[in-house]
Amino acid sequence: MTALKNDRFLRALLKQPVDVTPVWMMRQAGRYLPEYRASRAKAGDFMSLCMNPAFACEVTMQPLDRYPQLDAAILFSDILTIPDAMGQGLYFETGEGPRFKKVVSTLADIEALPIPDPQKDLGYVMDAVSTIRRELNGRVPLIGFAGSPWTLATYMVEGGSSKDYRKTKTMLYDNPQALHLLLDKLAQTVTSYLNGQIMAGAQAVQIFDSWGGSLSAAAYQEFSLAYMKKIVSGLIREHEGRKVPVILFTKNGGLWLESIADAGADALGLDWTCDIGSARARVGDKVALQGNMDPTVLYAKPEAIRTEVGRILASYGKGSGHVFNLGHGITPEVDPEHAGAFLRAVHELSAQYHE
Ligand code: CP3
Repeated sequence: MTALKNDRFLRALLKQPVDVTPVWMMRQAGRYLPEYRASRAKAGDFMSLCMNPAFACEVTMQPLDRYPQLDAAILFSDILTIPDAMGQGLYFETGEGPRFKKVVSTLADIEALPIPDPQKDLGYVMDAVSTIRRELNGRVPLIGFAGSPWTLATYMVEGGSSKDYRKTKTMLYDNPQALHLLLDKLAQTVTSYLNGQIMAGAQAVQIFDSWGGSLSAAAYQEFSLAYMKKIVSGLIREHEGRKVPVILFTKNGGLWLESIADAGADALGLDWTCDIGSARARVGDKVALQGNMDPTVLYAKPEAIRTEVGRILASYGKGSGHVFNLGHGITPEVDPEHAGAFLRAVHELSAQYHE
């Protein structure tokens, strides 16, 4: 394998010294880019992009080709590949988000769910990872990812996106053993799926717990964090002679940072509701932090974006251990020029915080 030409993302996750603060954007390959929309039209639909390694590679590279400041690539795929591989039949209705042909409602439904084999049932994802690694040729590290068991369970039980997770939370309180069985099957699957991605070439992995923050404090510990801990303890942590850092991102998890920092991961993703300097003081040396600009700042003028970047960098302060990112995914309406201004500002304004 080719040596990495730019490893500041991996170094920052391990709190090793860097020259400037590394940056990438959640959903960096996506609909705000006209070149992405063109590729999707060519492929036919979103899942065809994900399932064809050449297309997945093409769209993964698009933001890197446009923005030389990006310090990491993220596999182009989706967290819902797992429920699809469990037989739920994922599809996307235009403008309506993800849907499943089959939903999971009862203990019997959950007992019947197979545990997918990453090589056999999700081979297209493993092929995408190795194809992208080859194409990157050491330019920047490649991030693999999966959804957290709780976040995946919400889609599987609701049958798609949800505002209040009503069915999943009803199961949590009425039938906790059923939900625990589902979460346990998902934790096993996510562990082997992420290990498969690591063996195929992913150099860091992120667990997206996008909806963990909707839970009560007690339910978060029992139904989300416990399963992420289990996953983290089963992950391959070193490959090709380098550490493979693990990032946990619980959106709206700011109240629970101390316990998330104890889960065994290398870094925590932060949304914009917490101050990154206070978060740093709370987690101490245990973990690095990734985040946390409100993605809607990208609608504002480049000068305002730059000011906000400067504020977040100053709040984090001197030293390594910060990977700059948005606090959630970039939205389709963002002007690509504004994303460029954001990325340039991170590198330009952060040099002063590093030796
Ligand atoms: O970050 C990246 O560039 C990598 C690709 C990526 C996608 N989805 C591509 C995608 C990643 C990391 C994801 C993760 C994902 N998928 C999450 C967790 C992150 C988060 O945002 O909280 C979730 C909850 C999903 C589920 C999902 N996929 C939803 C709810 C939707 C529809 C909503 C929307 O944004 O359209 C998707 C579709 C999806 N996944 C798109 C992309 C680029 C848009 C599909 C399209 O092109 O029409």
